Amino acid sequence: MDVLVVDHPLARARLTTMRDARTDNAAFRAAVQELTVMLVYEAMRGAPLAEERVHTPVARTVGHRLANPPLLVPVLRAGLGMADQAHKLIPDAQMGFVGLARDEETLQPTPYMESLPTDLAGRPVLVLDPMLATGGSMAYTIKLLTDRGATDVTAICALAAPEGVKFLEDSGLPVRLVTASIDERLNDSGFIVPGLGDAGDRLYGAV
Ligand code: PRP
Repeated sequence: MDVLVVDHPLARARLTTMRDARTDNAAFRAAVQELTVMLVYEAMRGAPLAEERVHTPVARTVGHRLANPPLLVPVLRAGLGMADQAHKLIPDAQMGFVGLARDEETLQPTPYMESLPTDLAGRPVLVLDPMLATGGSMAYTIKLLTDRGATDVTAICALAAPEGVKFLEDSGLPVRLVTASIDERLNDSGFIVPGLGDAGDRLYGAV
């Protein structure tokens, strides 16, 4: 599996704000949004372009647009914190939604929402979720996408655990990972260490 760690000084600074337990919900949301811009920007670096002729105020020239804008898929809840910024960077993108809650005991993802186009053949997909912990939620989501014909999926996660990276690798699913950090490990409760706690709670409050 292709893994890109966006190890940029500005990304590290945002991630540090997110990790800091003193960061309140509003500042956490802002840091997630800013980091999302950096991750999506890097994830789209190799995207195919289509030429487009334009007239500047001075001359005619050839410019470019994305040949095939991706489908964005935030994984609710926490992925919603990344959705608007990703959409601002790629305004032509469409958006689908997947809702999953991880069972605190079994750590298995429980689906509660799914709103996706039926045919994803030939469409690149960016899945947005701040956390890749065991990898169960991401693998579940990617399976929904590949069942609809997707073959080009990029997981965009602020943070990943080595266990989740390995789980995705072993799954054989067609996915590339773009993240700001691969942390040390998962603890017994399935939290990333050192991590940042529960991204959904830190974005939106505990439920
Ligand atoms: C968190 C996180 C991921 C998932 C990661 O969501 O946002 O979706 O857990 O864990 P995994 O890799 O072990 O599957 P959670 O289920 O807590 O829901 P929330 O986004 O509503 O807070």
